[in-house]
Amino acid sequence: MGALPLCVIYALLSICAVMVTDAAISTMTYVPQGNNPLLYQPGAEPIMHLDQATFADTIFDPTKRTSFVVEYYADWCGHCRAFAPYYREFASLVASWNEVTRVAAINCADSFNAPVCRDNGVQYFPMIKYFPRHAATFNDGIPLEASHSGVNLRDQVSHKVLNEYSRMPYPDWPNFHYLDVTRNTRYEDLWAGVSDTANYLVIIFEQYDGAGVEFVLNLYPYRALVGGRRALSSTPLVQMLQITSFPYVAMFKRGDQQAVFMGPYSTTTLQEVINRVQPGQLVTMPPVITTTARKIDLVDCDKDPERCAGMYFASETDMLKAMYSALHDEVVRANDRVEGQNFTNLYNFVSLLAEHFPSLTFANSGTRRRLVRQSTSMVLKKSERARMVFAHMKQYLDQKPGVVSANDWKNQFESIERVYGNPFPVNATWQHCSGSAPQYRGYTCGLWTTFHTLTVHTYMDTIKNKKMNPLKPLKAIQGWVNSFFGCQHCKNHFMHMTTTMFPMSERRVRHSHDMVMYLWRAHNIVNNRLHGDVTEDPQFTKYQFPPVFLCPTCHAGGHFSRRQVRNYLLRYYANIRPHHWSHNL
Ligand SMILES: Cc1cc2nc3c(=O)[nH]c(=O)nc-3n(C[C@H](O)[C@H](O)[C@H](O)COP(=O)(O)OP(=O)(O)OC[C@H]3O[C@@H](n4cnc5c(N)ncnc54)[C@H](O)[C@@H]3O)c2cc1C
Ligand SMILES: *[C@@H]1O[C@H](CO)[C@@H](O)[C@H](O)[C@H]1NC(C)=O
Ligand SMILES: *[C@@H]1O[C@H](CO)[C@@H](O)[C@H](O)[C@H]1NC(C)=O
Repeated sequence: MGALPLCVIYALLSICAVMVTDAAISTMTYVPQGNNPLLYQPGAEPIMHLDQATFADTIFDPTKRTSFVVEYYADWCGHCRAFAPYYREFASLVASWNEVTRVAAINCADSFNAPVCRDNGVQYFPMIKYFPRHAATFNDGIPLEASHSGVNLRDQVSHKVLNEYSRMPYPDWPNFHYLDVTRNTRYEDLWAGVSDTANYLVIIFEQYDGAGVEFVLNLYPYRALVGGRRALSSTPLVQMLQITSFPYVAMFKRGDQQAVFMGPYSTTTLQEVINRVQPGQLVTMPPVITTTARKIDLVDCDKDPERCAGMYFASETDMLKAMYSALHDEVVRANDRVEGQNFTNLYNFVSLLAEHFPSLTFANSGTRRRLVRQSTSMVLKKSERARMVFAHMKQYLDQKPGVVSANDWKNQFESIERVYGNPFPVNATWQHCSGSAPQYRGYTCGLWTTFHTLTVHTYMDTIKNKKMNPLKPLKAIQGWVNSFFGCQHCKNHFMHMTTTMFPMSERRVRHSHDMVMYLWRAHNIVNNRLHGDVTEDPQFTKYQFPPVFLCPTCHAGGHFSRRQVRNYLLRYYANIRPHHWSHNL
């Protein structure tokens, strides 16, 4: 009788032991879990990767000595890709402050990290927060501005460090207090707190401008050789040393009241100081790492239009990958519960996918009449199964009273997906949507491709149905963007465009083919706005689509011929390149 409870107690104890020793703390070389690509290379740059498994244990570890700066990004988000070089520069600038603060990043586009990103209240990308050393909850993160300047980011962080220190002067952080000097202060008193092994002391005089905090932080790794202190411009020392400009530094040797070096503070001051205490030593500033851009030869589309045209096609792989992120990752990330308008928007979009996500591809179609009647069609096997998943998910929502928890949705999606043999090739590489470098294209290209394909296939599927409302598919797409697209500014632009600037209305979308043409124009408006943007892939520049090399007859006298464009779009999006097993890496 006594054996069982003992066994249970023993089992519980061993679970407890596992839980206690299982704290997962990220290191600078930690490779995060998850499926998505990363914007920074683990181990190759001074940025620590966090994920669902390590975030809380690392940031809220009560024994840690440092504060943390965390960037929340989405690998596919254009703003994040544009911001990455500045974050990288910032991380290099403050790498030597690693005993006081650490630079970290987490990819919130990865569904593995969805819960922790939700706990952090991440509403847009990139988002940056400063977590003080004593941080114990998600609420302790203080937002910073994602400025496009490494120096500005560094300045924001040094302010936060100083604020924290003024409230909690940790003895194992640098001494940021101003030197307290009166008439009675002796020379030896200035050296209080300086390491016994250090023979030098540098004082930086400033007028509340913050340069001193950075200087003291930069000097901290050399504290065994040289002490660093801040002093205000109002201190009596300023008169004694006849200093007239600020910020200004004065360097002293132990036992020698005559300064060994004095001068205005500049970017070379740190190196000058180090040269004196340790001749020949270079300041340990890691080089700023820029992503090694793959040197690839771009195809010149003016010279070789055929090759360029060959790079344009609607890809089954791209659409399936995009829809997996759209229904799985994005929905799970957005909210704990999907309810109200968000529920309706999810329902309408899943219904559209269940009804019109293409499971057939039409090759060699000429006119739109032939498109449906005479062109040869072929089954897209993965898409056929994906459509079953969409249909099941629609039925699942039918049983819900207008609300579903993100977790239930996720679990249901994953189990249905398994039933149909995992038709979403999440590990395959992007096909048409693959960029000429890793920071380009991908998911958002897959979204556009799917949206266009949906309008074209809805058109084809309902060609005989005179009662079909052509606004419905467009509204379903708009609803998904409004409720779930994680790119906040894309969503805002899109909503502004489709409600105000170029409204998605009955006036514009009257006939069945108008839905195809509406989305075509809307996308061209976006292309026009983004032309020349840093996120533009040099190989896939933002043409007014279709460019001449794709459809010469679409262009007539400097204008688009709407009829030609319409036929082109119907052919282009009816003809889908099937997912090939060899893509499934
Ligand atoms: C709804 C939405 C809003 C967005 N808003 C923004 C934003 O505000 N800021 C931002 O930086 N990024 C935004 N993006 C992302 C941006 O539009 C691109 O997706 C991204 O820059 C990648 O570009 P890409 O070269 O892969 O081509 P994409 O623009 O993604 O296009 C994908 C493919 O669609 C085809 N195509 C292009 N134009 C048309 C057209 N007019 N009609 C039919 N087919 C066409 C081409 O084959 C092209 O390769 C948005 C994306 C979406 C889905
Ligand atoms: C993708 O790769 C991961 C491991 O990296 C694996 O667990 C998963 O099953 C793969 N998914 C598919 C659909 O192949
Ligand atoms: C819908 O989702 C958005 C985030 O995409 C959220 O801000 C909003 O509060 C949600 N609305 C409801 C009614 O839950």
